Amino acid sequence: MSSQFRKKIQVIVSVCCALLLAVGLVGTASAAKKKAKKPAKTAPAKPDAAAEPAKAAEPAKAAAPKVDVTAVFASKCKACHGADGKGKPPKTPDFTTAAWQAKVSDAQIKKAITEGVDRDEGGVPHKMKAFKDLPADQVDGLVAFVRGLKK
Ligand code: HEC
Repeated sequence: MSSQFRKKIQVIVSVCCALLLAVGLVGTASAAKKKAKKPAKTAPAKPDAAAEPAKAAEPAKAAAPKVDVTAVFASKCKACHGADGKGKPPKTPDFTTAAWQAKVSDAQIKKAITEGVDRDEGGVPHKMKAFKDLPADQVDGLVAFVRGLKK
């Protein structure tokens, strides 16, 4: 009887120990998880805060001055129209004259750049290739540049 009782006690003690161990393990595990979560929650807050001023800085970029197309004109247009835009009449028009400036609209200049020129005036062909790969801001810049050539 007494040895059986001892065994029972041993079983109860060992079960209790196991339970305590289990509770202790779960407890520390969840505590560890909580600890691990806390820095994870605070960590993204800092990059977010840092990203906000960066986003706010973007509109400033968009408001930057128009693209300088002087180099674009020099590399793509100068050969036929001249650095000063005087061209080689009658082959290419003189962009600097008030008469030519009054004759063409902004839309026509834009169209000449993006779609090219292909027309016949009294049997004389007027042809210019289209500059289809120019970004829109450069096309707009070139229109303004051509306007600016007026003397
Ligand atoms: C290979 C020669 C050549 C190049 C390069 C060239 N053009 Fe021309 N361009 C012409 C010719 C030719 C005409 C037609 C002239 C005419 O109508 O009497 C013309 C016409 C024009 C006109 C007048 C369009 C119209 O409807 O009367 C504009 C504006 C113009 N070019 C702008 C440009 C710009 C901007 C560039 C550079 C992106 C450029 N051209 C590059 C040859 C060229």
